Parts: sequence; C-alpha cells; structure tokens
Amino acid sequence: MTPPENTFDDLLTEERTFDPPEEFRAKAHVRDPEQLERAKSDPEGWWAEWARQLDWFKPFHEVLDWQPPRARWFHDGELNVAHNCIDRHLDGPKRNKAALIWEGEPGDTRTYTYWDLHREVSRLANGLRSLGVERGDRVAIYLPMIPEAAFSMLACARIGAIHSVVFGGFSPESLADRIDDADARVLITADGGYRRGNVVPLKRNADEALERTDRVEKVVVVARGWNVSRTTGTRMVPDRDVWYHDLVEDQSADCPAESMNAEDPLFVLYTSGTTGRPKGIVHSTGGYLTQAMATTRWVFDLRDEDVYWCTADVGWITGHTYIVYGPLANGATVVMYEGAPDFPRRNRFWEICEKYGVTVFYTAPTAIRAFMGWGEEWPGRHDLSRLRLLGTVGEPINPEAWMWYREHIGGNRCPIVDTWWQTETGSILITPLPGVTTTRPGTATKPFPGISATLLNEGGEEVDSGYLAITRPWPSMLRGIWGDDERFRETYWSKWDEGTYFAGDGAKRDAQGNFWILGRVDDTLNVAGHRIGTMEVESALVEHPAVAEAAVVGRTDELKGQAIAAFVTLREGRPRSEELVVALKEHVATKIGAIARPADILFTSDLPKTRSGKIMRRLLRDIAEGKALGDTTTLADPAVVERLKERYEQEG
Ligand code: WTA
Repeated sequence: MTPPENTFDDLLTEERTFDPPEEFRAKAHVRDPEQLERAKSDPEGWWAEWARQLDWFKPFHEVLDWQPPRARWFHDGELNVAHNCIDRHLDGPKRNKAALIWEGEPGDTRTYTYWDLHREVSRLANGLRSLGVERGDRVAIYLPMIPEAAFSMLACARIGAIHSVVFGGFSPESLADRIDDADARVLITADGGYRRGNVVPLKRNADEALERTDRVEKVVVVARGWNVSRTTGTRMVPDRDVWYHDLVEDQSADCPAESMNAEDPLFVLYTSGTTGRPKGIVHSTGGYLTQAMATTRWVFDLRDEDVYWCTADVGWITGHTYIVYGPLANGATVVMYEGAPDFPRRNRFWEICEKYGVTVFYTAPTAIRAFMGWGEEWPGRHDLSRLRLLGTVGEPINPEAWMWYREHIGGNRCPIVDTWWQTETGSILITPLPGVTTTRPGTATKPFPGISATLLNEGGEEVDSGYLAITRPWPSMLRGIWGDDERFRETYWSKWDEGTYFAGDGAKRDAQGNFWILGRVDDTLNVAGHRIGTMEVESALVEHPAVAEAAVVGRTDELKGQAIAAFVTLREGRPRSEELVVALKEHVATKIGAIARPADILFTSDLPKTRSGKIMRRLLRDIAEGKALGDTTTLADPAVVERLKERYEQEG
C-alpha cells in the first residue's frame, strides 16, 4: 500500500479561509468553542449525555466496554430505533410536522407527517411479522428512492429485524450475493423506479437474483405505479410474492416496538473492500443512533424549522444515516427525491430546493462538478435564498468546486461543511462545525467532538502526512463484518495496535491542524463517490470467456473523481476488437452494476508483475494517468510496462 501521490502542494497554496458568518453563528447550536471542552476532557461522559437524550426502555449504566477491537456502547441499556425516530415525537408539536416530503422523478409528490410515518411503519412492521419475520432475522431491501424505502428500514428496526439495503443500481448477481451472505429470508422490492425518464425494472432484477439463491421465502413488492408494472412486466410468483399494499391493507397501526439491546445489530450494509467479495458492515442500535443524532444536529445545525435535503440514495450509508436515522431522530423535516438531477432538465435540484424551501442541502462533490459543467444559469433561475447551510461527502472536494458551490448555490452566505466519514464509521467523524469552524476549500478540517483522529506512518508514529487513524472508539463504529470476524480484525485493526482503527485513507495535516483527505491507500476506487473494489471488477472481467487475466486501477477523472481503467490479457486465440471492448464493459456492468462499468479497457499480452507475481498497480496507475514511469527494477519483465505505456498513449 502506498499513499496516493498527493495534490497537497497545490492545496497548500489554498489560502482562502472563511469564518462562520456572524448571523449564522449567533443562532447556531455550537457557537462557542467552550461548548466542546467537555468532549475533550471526558469523551465518554459527553457521548453518554447525547445517548441520554434518546428514549431508553431500560436505561444504560455502563457507557463503554472497550476490549479492542470490540467496543460495546451503552450495552446494558435497551431501546428501539423506530420508537426514537418516530414515536417519541408524537406527543408534542412534532406530531403533525412533515417528517418526509417526497418527490418522484415524474413529479408525483407525497408528504408524511410524523403521525403518518408512525402509521405506515407500524402497519408494515405488522405485515412483516405476519410473514414470519422475527427479531434478529435479516430482511433485504432493494428499492428505488421512494418513501417505502424509509418505511421498510424503520419497520425492520421496529420489530428488531436487521435490514440489508442493496442499492437499486446493483445487478441481480450483486443482489443475490448480498442476500446469500446475510442469509435474508425476506426481500422488499418494487416493480420499478424512475431514473432519467426510464423505468428501472427492479422486480425483474430481483426475480433474476432469486434464481441464483433459494434463501428468500417471501418477496414484498411495492407498486410504484401500474404504469411501471406494465413497462417492466411484473410477474408475481404465487406463494412467494405479495404486493406491499395487500400486505399492509388489513394491518393494525398499532405495533409495539421491540425492546432491543443497545448492541443488537440494526443493519448490515455491504461495501467494497480489497478482495472480490464485498463486506457486510454491521452497525449497532444504541451507539449508532446516538452518534447519528448528534452529528446530524451539530454538523447540519439542524433546527425545527429546517427543511433538510440529503441527495444520497438510501442504498448507501449516507442515505441510512443522513436521510433516515439522523434527521428523524432529531424530528426533522426531510426531503427525499427519487430521480436524476438533470431530469427533465438540469435545474431539477434547484427547482426542488425552491419549491420546498430547502434550508440545508447535502450532496457529493461529483454532483457539484456536474452542476459546474452545466453552468450557473441553471441554479440562477431559482430562488435559493432559503438555503443557509451546504454540505459535501463521499470524496475529496477540489477547491474550485467548493468555491463554485459557495458562490452559485450558497450565494456566498452559506457555510460549507465538508464531511469525512465511511460506511464503517457509521456517521461523520471529521467535519467543520458551521458556527465555529474556519473553513478552507478542500479540507474536512477537524475531528467532530469526542473523536480522536491522527495521522500515522507504517511504524505507527504520528506524522503530518500519512495514514488516517482513529485512536479511540466512537459510538457509531462498525461492530464487525457480517460472518467474518477475522476479516474485521485484519482489515481495520491490525495495521498498528488492536485499538487503533485503520481507515484506509491517506491524509495530510496543516499547521492549523486541519485534515486534508487525499484518497484511498488500498485497492478500492472512488468513482463518483461510490466505493468500488478493484478486485471485484477484476473478478467480473475474468469470468468473461475471452479474458485470461485482468488488472484494474483508478485514473483521475475530472467529473467522477476517479474512473476505472482495466488492463486485460486475453485467452489464446481470442482476437482483440472494439466489439470486445464494448462487450467487456457491458459484462462488468451486468455483473456488478452500471456504477462499476470500466471507462477504459486496454488489451495487453502481459501484465507487469513483481518477481513474486504481484501485479504492480502503481505502474498501471501511472500508465493510466499518462505519467512518467517510476522505478521498475523490481519487475519481472520491465519491458512489459514500456510496451504497455506506448500502447496506452496511442490508444488511450
Ligand atoms: C472517501 C461515504 C474526502 C474516503 C460516507 C472514505 C472522503 C470513503 C470524504 C468512504 C470527504 C468520504 N473528503 N474523502 N469529505 N468523505 N470520503 O464508505 O476515501 O462510501 O474512505 O462512505 O470515501 O466511502 P463510503
């Protein structure tokens, strides 16, 4: 593993700083650095104060039991996440407040108050119980961005079932693998969902997935609309499939919430790692919800009157924590949108912001770069004056995009929070606090209160440029990898001592103590904010009958951050052709999902390897980036690289 070649020298020349505007600061939840003292001197006590703001069916007495790498937070307490996100808001003025304002891509809208949410979630929870779902069972969710996605997650939480949401863009095969790994017996899907004017045939994909696994006994199907069913040719399998609306029709809106131990798993969410197999990241109940609530309130300075919109998909961790659990635990109003940002026109997001009076907006750098490319006339058509805070997540943001965001979306008045975190961390760990932090374009600034982050070198010494490490446990930390304890220890807790978390990112720290995240140091890619394992793409490629060997690397892409470049050797007698390039790209998209489609495929008769047979990715990356060659003396056949490089320059 080598830290990525940095762009830090460019960043260092980034001198622009922005203090919180006085008007913002005056009303912010955190406006005085003194509020952070307690978190420093007694982080556990401080987290416990947050936890006590939740409703506990049985109060906890012990805050943290830390036996590295196993942490148990609030572990003698009991609570229910759905109760905390819904029921506890029903006795006061929030009862009739909008919890969810949803807009479908075709323009249909639905709004649910907290009262409505309670009814919908409870009826579905009873429905799931009627299908035999019990506490601890896994339920797979493969849905578009529709309210039922949130209902399904919360219904599972209500009855203590563990959900595993699979992003709707994943292929049938990826869905089947995830169902198998988590041993899910129930799948919730929809006939389809809208994306850029087309219907994504989710049920058809699900049917295909279920031909590959026989674990699923019941499939609940949301009718996104009868049109959708007609377009996608939904076929219901007798005794296995049930329409969502039929399932909930006769269910009572009264569904007692299970009293869960704080350490019971709330969900599993798969993310890419350095092997061909994605890992099921396991999150807890009490610790997860505590930090989801705390970070949402403080990072987004969430207030009762806010209209908060996070544009992520619920299939990713950002959708879990910052569309569903964090905002609802705070009793916020959440906007949820089904479709593409450029449908039917490139102003769709700004139209939504204006229409619902969005005040807090959270999106990804990739999206911001696309908006920049489309031009400021699109947001310029809309009244965005209600916006008061902007956020970004998922990848490093280049200063140019940051400045554009600030000016053209934030009207030079909204603070920007660049938030660093991961599927594994469950919630935000490094971020500005908008009322107190001086921001600089390109840095996620400092650890959230109660979080201890640093930079270490291979030997575990503190440095100002190295591997990002978290040195104390935090409440929403992952509790494991589903079914694979060894991989959990090995991946995150073995680089230094067992109590220090290896994040897999390289970073630098400046004189003010700001963290500048540079990107992954392992073999995972970040394409448009989505994590993709190079090994996953490689395994997909070698499953194609024409392919003998494949090596996948990331290269810089102006829009997506990184793009996938694949170096492929073909089997004897398989001719290289343009058609094969197209076919291989399609093959990967079909196997994994469109997000993993390679941008470049280059045929080569050999791959550069060390004498021990390890593929030298650094060289391939350099070739893909068109950079000068580095040291090749450890190569078995240095000439391979020279030839590859020449070819890449000609063809790439
Ligand atoms: C990257 C997404 C720079 C990082 C929440 C991390 C970032 C990976 C930032 C996790 C940021 C996320 N600045 N890089 N603000 N936020 N990353 O699991 O490489 O999908 O390790 O979680 O995204 O991606 P994941």
